[in-house]
Amino acid sequence: MVSRETLVVEDTEREVMLDLVRVTETAALRAGRWMGMGNKEAADQAAVDGMRGMLDLVKIDGVVVIGEGEKDKAPMLYVGERVGRGDGLEQVDIAVDPVEGTRLVAQGLPNAMSVLVAAARGSLASIPAYYMHKIAVGPAAAGYIDINASVRENLRVVAARLRRKVRDLTVAILDRPRHEKLIAEVRECGARIKLIPDGDVSAGLATALEETGVDLLMGIGGATEGVLTAAALKCLGGEIQARVWYPTVEQALRAEEEGVDLKKVYRTDDLASGESIIFVATGITDGELLRGVRYYGEKAITHSVAMRARTRTVRFIETHHNLKFKTLRSKKRQREMSV
Ligand code: FBP
Repeated sequence: MVSRETLVVEDTEREVMLDLVRVTETAALRAGRWMGMGNKEAADQAAVDGMRGMLDLVKIDGVVVIGEGEKDKAPMLYVGERVGRGDGLEQVDIAVDPVEGTRLVAQGLPNAMSVLVAAARGSLASIPAYYMHKIAVGPAAAGYIDINASVRENLRVVAARLRRKVRDLTVAILDRPRHEKLIAEVRECGARIKLIPDGDVSAGLATALEETGVDLLMGIGGATEGVLTAAALKCLGGEIQARVWYPTVEQALRAEEEGVDLKKVYRTDDLASGESIIFVATGITDGELLRGVRYYGEKAITHSVAMRARTRTVRFIETHHNLKFKTLRSKKRQREMSV
């Protein structure tokens, strides 16, 4: 039987989820103004401002565990910063990527989005590296992939699970020189490749949503992005496996000396554990998953996804904003921000 305590948490989670969507919506509305302006720092700053201000209004007692970096370098949304009103959902860890794909926004390219994960305290992994090797798939192939197996074997297994031929699969890979060998291997197996300039969270999520046409994510990307992807895949029933990666042999050796296990395989549950996970994202530029922000004078439209691991309900939310009436007031921070 479900305990009363769980039911109360469930209710609060449901209520908080929409407020969290308002957080990524605000970030996207503000960052979206910088689309194609060639200034990724400004886009990121605008999103951070919006996200931070809006978070103050959410009924959570949260601490940022994945954010903009250390306190000294990041004035807002730094790791360890307390966010939320302090009531409602207690003991929450917050992971944010105010703009996932800053370059995508700066260049007006697809698939940039604003991402936020709220999870029970201690359930999001802290990774001792900036990068990770990753393989991610949707529900049909979850439980069948193996990051230590060959590319050929993983493609064979995923194709079998999807009841397709390897040549019908599409693998998303970040377009980086470090992936030359991986790309050659995938091509040799005959699978199709979608080289993405940035944004492997979006590609990871896409593997779990059939209509996106992406079946696997493979390659090396950001470690924190791996945790965000795991949180999303928990809500979608997909799977990610990852291993730390360092750009140079020296860095890898140093990490090993410091006790980092280079061979450790992080599975979905190691990266994001338990059922108390809420994932929300709002599109900044158009993508397979989400439409970007549209501005029409005093109006703007945003497109978001909101989901919870506990229920696995996936909600797509189209919001029509009237910017004339939308002033972000943050009591705690005593300031006003317009979008
Ligand atoms: P930013 O949003 O921080 O610009 O990151 C975008 C991104 O493409 C991630 O999606 C990916 O995990 C990471 O950068 C890859 O890092 P790198 O660009 O150093 O290869």
